[in-house]
Amino acid sequence: MCGIIGILGSEPVAPRLLEALRRLEYRGYDSAGVAVLDDTGRMDRRRAPGKLKNLEAELAENPLAGFQGIGHTRWATHGSPTVVNAHPHVSGPVAVVHNGIIENFRDLRQDLEAKGHKFETETDSETIAHLIASNIQAGMSEVDAVKAGLARLEGAFALAFLFAGKPDLLIGARKGSPLAIGVGDGEMYLGSDALAVAPFTNKVVYLEEGDWCVLDRDSYTVFNEKGAEVSREVTLVQGAGAAAEKGNYRHFMQKEIFEQPDSTARTIGAYVNVLKQTVELPGENGHAIDWNDVTSLHMIACGTAHYATRVAEYWFEQVAGLPVKTDIASEFRYREPALPKTGGLALFVSQSGETADTLAALRYCKEKGLKTAAVVNVPTSTIAREADLVLPTLAGPEIGVASTKAFTAQLSALAAVAIAAGRGRETLSRDAEIRLGKALTQLPRLISSTLALDERIEKLARDIAKATDVIYLGRGVHYPIALEGALKLKEISYIHAEGYASGELKHGPIALIDEDTPVVFVAPFDGLFDKSLSNLQEVAARRGEVILISDEAGLRAAADAPAHRIELPDCDPFVAPILYSIPVQLLAYHVAVEKGTDVDQPRNLAKSVTVE
Ligand code: G6P
Repeated sequence: MCGIIGILGSEPVAPRLLEALRRLEYRGYDSAGVAVLDDTGRMDRRRAPGKLKNLEAELAENPLAGFQGIGHTRWATHGSPTVVNAHPHVSGPVAVVHNGIIENFRDLRQDLEAKGHKFETETDSETIAHLIASNIQAGMSEVDAVKAGLARLEGAFALAFLFAGKPDLLIGARKGSPLAIGVGDGEMYLGSDALAVAPFTNKVVYLEEGDWCVLDRDSYTVFNEKGAEVSREVTLVQGAGAAAEKGNYRHFMQKEIFEQPDSTARTIGAYVNVLKQTVELPGENGHAIDWNDVTSLHMIACGTAHYATRVAEYWFEQVAGLPVKTDIASEFRYREPALPKTGGLALFVSQSGETADTLAALRYCKEKGLKTAAVVNVPTSTIAREADLVLPTLAGPEIGVASTKAFTAQLSALAAVAIAAGRGRETLSRDAEIRLGKALTQLPRLISSTLALDERIEKLARDIAKATDVIYLGRGVHYPIALEGALKLKEISYIHAEGYASGELKHGPIALIDEDTPVVFVAPFDGLFDKSLSNLQEVAARRGEVILISDEAGLRAAADAPAHRIELPDCDPFVAPILYSIPVQLLAYHVAVEKGTDVDQPRNLAKSVTVE
């Protein structure tokens, strides 16, 4: 969370900082700020609460001149999102922007206050500015002051420092939160990711854990945690430059929902060889999984990615007969999980590849000697770089905070991996492999047909938007889709929603049913449909408003039940959970639009959660 940019440039820096921050807003949007040095080396800053447009307005009214500066977009942890708490924080000649949490900031603050430092904010981050300033006051150079300061910081951080009177110096540091150097032509940059520096350069140096760096316009030097100079390779990043545009769509989320025929096709295309009718895992070089050696699969993720693992759990068990355990990453390593000494494969799923809890769980599993694999959407992310094997999703950049196309790409990749596991463990016949591979390749077309239901779902959404509570029910592999449907609705429309396994209805949630409670059934006509139909009747009998998402056969079987109906095309049951994700996304989207919420940047959320 929080986005960082730093620029040592050769043209006015304020508009460039804003451009980079626009690309980083997905990391948080509680406040934003910049600090700039003018020609004389004098430092000034502008900050504004709320979205970036407020900072833009502030800069339009009170412009800043200068070619070098740092910027920040904030997701608040310590201290409310006010202008005072907004970054950059300044103490003496030091300005700093920070992503992460400084865990020992209270102790440091007490020490610094005792030395006479006056704190203005409630943030942990301000401590860093004072700490470095106090080192400079004690006679250290800027570089030594940062080096000594970093050694005292506990917690997670990515930092960028700017110093008054030093127009050709930027210092960056990373521990736990991502940071990269952008290498320009007579210019140098720091950014939370390649996307931030993409308007200026495609040459990126990713800092590793504990690294810190010193930049001038023509060179950069990277040091490791021990202070030794280290060499880190330059990566040429492709494609990050294309600024995400909404095109004809009203919101990024809407655009991303409608991109799913392409994003799933791209992902499936990377795994399914249509000519040979086989599934081949990309990126296995040197780290191929011998599925016969795998005795248990541990899937770990957060949020929507966790729900993708919950669907995949059914696939790996059914197709590959593989015992599976799924965990929410924030729970995983604190419960001292019993992990196998041999044969355990840990699989992490993450859109951003930067989620702090997922990354920590990955490191924990590596320490315990498990083989690790990661399904990630950002190939240059920390999780992608640290996992033994990377299983890419090719969803492309996802801007809407609520995940849509990344989710279906994760499901597509996981389905393919389950097929590969089934083949490897000989639990899947050749015919079955061909059938499942074919079902996957047909999926993008079925998603296109499903998207044609948009208008129908929009109409229905007008009604749902009046509700204060909505229940989503599903059975088997559709239970996690019910969970995901409820999550989508609550995160963007702020309507309270819960997902349950349909069979659990009578064990509690049925008490909530009345005429004002819509109940969404995610129920294709599969082997469990009759049971879902009974649950539907139970809801209808209590005057609950039923929305049945099913196929032709399902709707026919439920012809007598009072329900709003959404008819999806027939599909192979194996890929049905991917297809049934589409209507629940559309429903959440249209309800949110009807309610007039900020669809792409819902309150309190951030796309990349890099704090625990
Ligand atoms: C945040 C996002 C979610 C996402 C979750 C996990 O909460 O808002 O959309 O599912 O983080 O993120 P990851 O990048 O690890 O998939």
